Amino acid sequence: MEKCESVKNILSISDLSCEQLFKIILPKCEEEISFVEKRIPHENDPTKKVQLLFTEPSTRTRGSNIEAIGLLGCRCDQIVGAEASALAKKESFANTARMLAKFNADILVARTKTEGVPKFMAELLEKNGYQCAVHNAGDGTNQHPTQTILDLLTLKRHLGRLDNFTIGFFGDLKYGRTVHSLLTALSYRSDINVVLVDTQETKLQKQYKELFPAITGSDEMEALVDCDVVYGARIQEERFDFDPVTLARLRAKFTVTPQLLNSLKSNVVIMHPMPYVQEFPPDVRRDKRIIIDDQAWCGVPVRIALLKLSFENLEARVFPEDRPEIVLDTVENVSLAEYRLHKVRKGGEEKQYFYPIDCGTVIDHIPVSIGSKIKQFLFTKGQLKNEGPVHLIDRIKKMQHGEKEVLILRNNFLEDRVKMAIISLSPTVTFNEILNGRFRKIKANIPSKVRGFGKCPNAACITNNDPEAVQTFIHMGTGSLKCWYCEKEFPKDEAI
Ligand code: NCD
Repeated sequence: MEKCESVKNILSISDLSCEQLFKIILPKCEEEISFVEKRIPHENDPTKKVQLLFTEPSTRTRGSNIEAIGLLGCRCDQIVGAEASALAKKESFANTARMLAKFNADILVARTKTEGVPKFMAELLEKNGYQCAVHNAGDGTNQHPTQTILDLLTLKRHLGRLDNFTIGFFGDLKYGRTVHSLLTALSYRSDINVVLVDTQETKLQKQYKELFPAITGSDEMEALVDCDVVYGARIQEERFDFDPVTLARLRAKFTVTPQLLNSLKSNVVIMHPMPYVQEFPPDVRRDKRIIIDDQAWCGVPVRIALLKLSFENLEARVFPEDRPEIVLDTVENVSLAEYRLHKVRKGGEEKQYFYPIDCGTVIDHIPVSIGSKIKQFLFTKGQLKNEGPVHLIDRIKKMQHGEKEVLILRNNFLEDRVKMAIISLSPTVTFNEILNGRFRKIKANIPSKVRGFGKCPNAACITNNDPEAVQTFIHMGTGSLKCWYCEKEFPKDEAI
């Protein structure tokens, strides 16, 4: 079989390219179907070991992994339940991962309530020199990528195509991680219409809605009538704080009644990652269009294929070395007189703001409302020790690019690491240093991923739950920041 160098870990659908997902992974899953149907074991390799670490409940994800491991003939150890490992004694995720790899785990399959744990563990193990892959079996409300791969296989089997259909999601779209992963995967396809049925309490996050510009929403299950596929998601009551009345109302709303079934397309494919609670009452469960048992079964060939892919690629290094992420560049270095003359000639509005100081730093091009946060940051970091006022000019109208803020620090110069910290969250910022009659403008080449600055506002994120997890953000084109680990997106000023 063709070797796939690039797929070692399965951490999030958004980490996989369209090509990896649809051209490499899915065909390999399809190849495994007949082996599983006939229960044909693979060539036995008892030196290989898969470690399950499931601190949240599971029936299907765990059961299908165990079945896959059995058919692959490798060793398996299971840590199951929130109280079963030393995590319950407050041992860190980092230390847990290192220990399990030390005991020869080749693949760690992890399900946790804390978000971003699988990605954190995969990165940490690679940096610590272990050849151990990680599969995300569901991290809190974030992602469940292996479920999505089996959902895609189910769609191929029962719908016969992965493009050009209408899919309706109902239930808990806010916390349903399988919904988040599946939407991400479907955003790679063409002609997919998405219909959402949710309520105020269970709304899908904006970042997933934005994947489908023509998405439509409703709070009535009748909106599903024209769908080719219907995908249900259990109300994740363990993640909400619902009173019994609200919970009962939501449960009643998200029930597939016989009347609803009658109104759906005769060939609709009805899916659900399970467990379901009230979604399919016993009288509708027998309807042939509800293919959830076969969907769950698809987990076995999928997990065989994924485990094999990881075994083949254990030596791959997928996380780039730590390196200084930001490079500061001096883009102008002129005499102050020359600079002022130039500004006056240009007739630029900014000139007046540079005149007040002959010595100090002007932080320019600060996004609106961020200036006061930077000021606060500088005070807390003890950067403003010299005499001289700190001056914030907010909302200057710029001629071409909207509004900005400017921070003037008389007689103050910032250390490079502080400049980098500011730039890491506000890449547009420039530092104009005025000293001894010279003017120096400093800017940064900033990569989209920045480490070691800011704080993820998501309390369930690994960065707020493990001392070795370093905050890392991705700059989104929209001006917001996305946490590298828990994948939640935030407006910039919430993450500083
Ligand atoms: C789901 C999960 O754990 O995210 N189930 C699964 O893995 N098949 C859905 C749920 O718990 O409701």
